[in-house]
Amino acid sequence: MGSKELLVFLLSALIHLTGVSSSNVFDVTKYGAIGDGKTDDSHAFLNAWASACSSTLSTSTLFVPKGKTFLLKPVTFHGPCKSTSVTVQILGNITAPNGLWNWNYNSGSWIIFDSVYGLSVFGGGDIEGHGSTWWKCKQSRKCSGAPSALMFNFCNNLKLKSLKISNSPQIHLVLHDCKNVYVSGITITAPADSPNTDGIHTQYCKQVEIKNSTIKTGDDCIAISKESSDIKIGGIQCGPGHGISIGSLGQSYSAATVERIHVYNVVFFGTMNGARIKTWQGGSGYARDITFENLMMVNVDNPIVIDQYYCNGQQGSCRNHTSAVKVSNVSFTGVFGSSSNVVAIRLACSQTVKCKDVHLKNIRLTSSGGEKKAALAYCLSVEGTSSPPVVPAVPCLSKWIN
Ligand SMILES: *[C@@H]1O[C@H](CO)[C@@H](O)[C@H](O)[C@H]1NC(C)=O
Ligand SMILES: *[C@@H]1O[C@H](CO)[C@@H](O)[C@H](O)[C@H]1NC(C)=O
Ligand SMILES: *[C@@H]1O[C@H](CO)[C@@H](O)[C@H](O)[C@H]1NC(C)=O
Ligand SMILES: *[C@@H]1O[C@H](CO)[C@@H](O)[C@H](O)[C@H]1NC(C)=O
Repeated sequence: MGSKELLVFLLSALIHLTGVSSSNVFDVTKYGAIGDGKTDDSHAFLNAWASACSSTLSTSTLFVPKGKTFLLKPVTFHGPCKSTSVTVQILGNITAPNGLWNWNYNSGSWIIFDSVYGLSVFGGGDIEGHGSTWWKCKQSRKCSGAPSALMFNFCNNLKLKSLKISNSPQIHLVLHDCKNVYVSGITITAPADSPNTDGIHTQYCKQVEIKNSTIKTGDDCIAISKESSDIKIGGIQCGPGHGISIGSLGQSYSAATVERIHVYNVVFFGTMNGARIKTWQGGSGYARDITFENLMMVNVDNPIVIDQYYCNGQQGSCRNHTSAVKVSNVSFTGVFGSSSNVVAIRLACSQTVKCKDVHLKNIRLTSSGGEKKAALAYCLSVEGTSSPPVVPAVPCLSKWIN
């Protein structure tokens, strides 16, 4: 090698190692995206993605510039990519088509990232799902399902920051089979009466942290579903919505395993539920090692709920069975505020598979219906402890003073 070749070789090695090169940024407008909110920019996005994903530099970025609105039909961004770290920077707005549009019922979502490892998605722009036509269609029972807005499938080492997602036809953000996920600064907004518009839904995921986010929807703010472990959720404002739920688990006689869930520092505003575990009759498996800690309830219907009779009002599904998802080692610690329902604490466990080691500590829930309506607790088939102060009192739990 001559000295000139050596220099070129060293420079390219350096660029390769540091990933510093303008050519690793793939701007969708350079691939033909118009961004007028009307033209279908899906192909331009997919072409830009194909380049970003096949870049041999160590990092690559799909770039969505500011000041424009890009219309996307249902799209899937497939991995794995060649770069060890892929960034999607969404500074402009992204919008779904208005009305009902064709989408693959089985894949379930509008925008999908599939098998992309080391992906970071940073926001700034709005992701607008235009769900209202879907909601009407569902409410009139003409549509049985609707797309979720954003889905991450098999995306290990995933980071999502500063995303704004609004008005999804169904769930706003789905995390499916992802390991090591960090989510922060997410704002999700949909009307209180929009059907099934869960904020974040996680299933088959391990090591997920969701922080500093505001979620206002028509269904669960966050739902932790089957096969979930090591999930931390903190610093969340939830409401309107149905609260933070573990479940539903065990539907259609299925098995579920959920463990090591920590939900802390959450404020619930006018939600239907606060901290909830919901399982269907006839399921199996377990939900265990769960801590709900430091929760503020502002006019919440049902602040603390374990419901093993969940059946979503579905015909023929509300029958009782002997098997159930086993619920154990669950604590509710530091829960304050007001309940708009008389039964502020509801622990309704399976009569054949008791809830074990349920611990309540430092709880003060008053009725927002005035002094005369004292908040109450309901218990069925539950064993555990209550460490005063616990208001309302939960007499079925043994007193534990430490
Ligand atoms: C992006 O969406 C937000 C919220 O709808 C809006 O305020 C903003 O003007 C939009 N930006 C562009 C460039 O259309
Ligand atoms: C929390 O999220 C908001 C956006 O919703 C962001 O502006 C703020 O910087 C974040 N704070 C922290 C500490 O990350
Ligand atoms: C109960 O769960 C907590 C985590 O929520 C865990 O630290 C503790 O070890 C568990 N206790 C038992 C007896 O498994
Ligand atoms: C199932 O059992 C619960 C608890 O005993 C009871 O309240 C409920 O009415 C039963 N449901 C049916 C459909 O029998």
